[in-house]
Amino acid sequence: MSESDRQLALVTGGTYGLGLALSRHLLAAGYDVLACGRTPARLEAARADVPALRVTQADITDTADLDRLCTEVLRTGKPLDLLVNNAGVSFACDYTNDTTLSQNLARAEIETNFAAPVELTRRFLWMRREQGWEERSATIANIGTPGALFPLEPNPLYSASKAGFHMFTMGLRRQLAETPVTVVEIYPPLLDTGLAPDMSLPGKEQFGAEAIDRFARFSVKGILAGEPDIYPAEIDFIADLVPRTEAVADKINAFVRRADGWEKDVVGRQAPANR
Ligand SMILES: NC(=O)c1ccc[n+]([C@@H]2O[C@H](COP(=O)([O-])OP(=O)(O)OC[C@H]3O[C@@H](n4cnc5c(N)ncnc54)[C@H](OP(=O)(O)O)[C@@H]3O)[C@@H](O)[C@H]2O)c1
Repeated sequence: MSESDRQLALVTGGTYGLGLALSRHLLAAGYDVLACGRTPARLEAARADVPALRVTQADITDTADLDRLCTEVLRTGKPLDLLVNNAGVSFACDYTNDTTLSQNLARAEIETNFAAPVELTRRFLWMRREQGWEERSATIANIGTPGALFPLEPNPLYSASKAGFHMFTMGLRRQLAETPVTVVEIYPPLLDTGLAPDMSLPGKEQFGAEAIDRFARFSVKGILAGEPDIYPAEIDFIADLVPRTEAVADKINAFVRRADGWEKDVVGRQAPANR
């Protein structure tokens, strides 16, 4: 495949953990991959390890970094056909113990796991319109978690921020149903990455490099096949829970709709298109 034939994918948090494994498998599947992360050492290691990977430093919770990331995308000269919202953080905390609680950590979790990927999704769709890529098939692949479907007691804000992102993903899929953009949600099983160093996860050693690579390969295969929900057999309770939510949503959305003329009120409140 020639360089110009390779479609472009952006993977947030693509220089470490599951994101790096996804980046490798996307490259192997013929994508040109731009991966971002915050930590210079991780960026350097990914660059050395996977020379074909385009690597750029960006904190997705920082507006100036998001501006730069979008500029980097445009600088490749290629349409962005795949956005993988993968970057995430998780912090243990205990609401009966003040010393474990911090406004900054709570904000980081909510912003990284929820607000930033929502904003990046908005920019992705805006770029498609601005650049005239609207007719192209594209995919938004959101890395969720089974822990978005029930409360995790040791890290409730992780669960809550991911639950918010899960609902956003389901709503986005409904809104984009008639467009060429497919919305995919990926539910990784327990993997021994850098995600939760402050958690006790018995037996997590068995979910190291090999399991991460296996799940990344499985996920990329699912993305290429256009599967809406990607999860391994061991967390098949998702096959029960998610369709039940969808069925309730079908019923409610059949009568709760946007009011006639609603756009006129919204336009006045809108921020500039690229902010
Ligand atoms: N591991 C599991 O068991 C598991 C299970 C279910 C779901 N997941 C989900 O899988 C995804 C990947 O997590 P992981 O397990 O691979 O964890 P990880 O090893 O900690 O990797 C997280 C990645 O996100 C990047 N990142 C974090 N904050 C960022 C920010 N503000 N801006 C840009 N990049 C940022 C990190 O790089 P820097 O630190 O260098 O920025 C790193 O590359 C997450 O969404 C997580 O919720 C993981």
